[in-house]
Amino acid sequence: MDDAPDQFLRELDGLLGPRGLIRDPDLMAPWLTDWRGRFSGKALALALPASTTQLVQTMALCARCAVPVVPQGGNSGMSGGATPDASGRALLLTTRRMDAIRTIDPAARQVTCEAGVVLQALHDAVAVHGLRFPLTLGGKGSATVGGLISTNAGGTQVLRHGAMRAQVLGLEAVLADGQVYSALTPLRKDNRGFDLKQLFIGSEGTLGIVTAATLRLVPGIADRLVVWAGLPLLQTARALLLHCQAQLGAALEGFEVLPQPCLDAVLAYLPDARAPLNAPHAWHALIEVVAEPSEAASLRDRVEAALASAATQGFLDDATLSSSETQAEAFWLLRDSISAAERARGPAMQHDIAVPVERMPDFIDEATRTLETAWPGVRAIGYGHLGDGNIHFHVGASAGSDRASWEAGQGKAISRMVHDLVTAWGGTISAEHGIGQLKQAELERVGDPVALHLMRRIKAALDPQNLLNPGKLVVLAPGSGNA
Ligand code: MLT
Ligand code: ZN
Repeated sequence: MDDAPDQFLRELDGLLGPRGLIRDPDLMAPWLTDWRGRFSGKALALALPASTTQLVQTMALCARCAVPVVPQGGNSGMSGGATPDASGRALLLTTRRMDAIRTIDPAARQVTCEAGVVLQALHDAVAVHGLRFPLTLGGKGSATVGGLISTNAGGTQVLRHGAMRAQVLGLEAVLADGQVYSALTPLRKDNRGFDLKQLFIGSEGTLGIVTAATLRLVPGIADRLVVWAGLPLLQTARALLLHCQAQLGAALEGFEVLPQPCLDAVLAYLPDARAPLNAPHAWHALIEVVAEPSEAASLRDRVEAALASAATQGFLDDATLSSSETQAEAFWLLRDSISAAERARGPAMQHDIAVPVERMPDFIDEATRTLETAWPGVRAIGYGHLGDGNIHFHVGASAGSDRASWEAGQGKAISRMVHDLVTAWGGTISAEHGIGQLKQAELERVGDPVALHLMRRIKAALDPQNLLNPGKLVVLAPGSGNA
């Protein structure tokens, strides 16, 4: 029997010590299946380096022994990007022990922190200084800075502040051969050629492992209000969005939509939750509006005026305005629980799509009609970030379907149809959740051949042994999965 893995693990144990290496299958198990439960894999062991130095040593050992590495943050990704394959050859590596906030510079409005810092902890740490990290999402209690960067995460404030790419001022990453790319210095201007840090943002751990970052902060807010509005059509939501942008300007921070069946699923999932409006509506919009100190006094008046004129023009049927921070949080909890509530409803194919914002309402209508006609009994719903033109379009199996066979058969055909439609409408098959292993083959099928060729060239240049997250996002030999 080949004793190379044992020798490798002995050396790794020497580098990381007992807290840094887990081999017990029961302790590893939770990290070997993705959040959605779509993918399960095996791993040689779970490495938990405590520092960049330990991660460098680990990567250098992996390079010497040709052991593939699957990097993982909070394991709350949506595309199976942090789950190893079934071979058991890979080392699963989590950065969650690297969770120090190194510095907060209130004057420069910057924080430098390690990859394992959990998003909620980052929010709390900078709030003490009267500052805000302007990106949030439902998984904020588990998602880590490293995972957020590696997937270029979005969330519910992209409308105003942009996705993760817009927040990263500097970055440190360990390369496939164990070298450290260190660009944490947050220069506001730097024109020395390629902006290399961008390569690591959104590349899902296929080019390097992010170990630390310098992130942009914004001033804390003095007040915020959350509007819950009931609407007859998604087209009305688009009109309401344009109206709010015109009336509220930079105060408008988020604009999310969900259809009634989505709200029903959440209310069934959260036993103590209540519907914000008295009656059902075909669509609901959740609108976040914030104010800095100088504008806080007039915020409620401005929002009420915007809602009143929206109602007059037929842009909403009913609306309620949060009367306290507790109620604002309760509205957001409904929105942030959609994913978990949908997951609990049974098998579904999830599509994380974008088309040009102005075309999204018509796209959802057409896609729903096409899908439900082609596969009678399936249930299509779209919800999410209308303000960004990014909707999560789920197609649920008809009642009684067996999950595994439905996903592999009808579900797969459904996804192909959705992706073909989205491509025909000039959109993307991944606006937010990344490619991972979920959409790798589909990206190859419908992606731009020139862009795919460039990505493969970059992957081959930075990771010639194909050790970093093989089989995810970009594979060296198309069609081969794990290359
Ligand atoms: C969301 O917007 O809720 C998240 O991106 C997760 C999801 O797609 O369900
Ligand atoms: Zn989303």
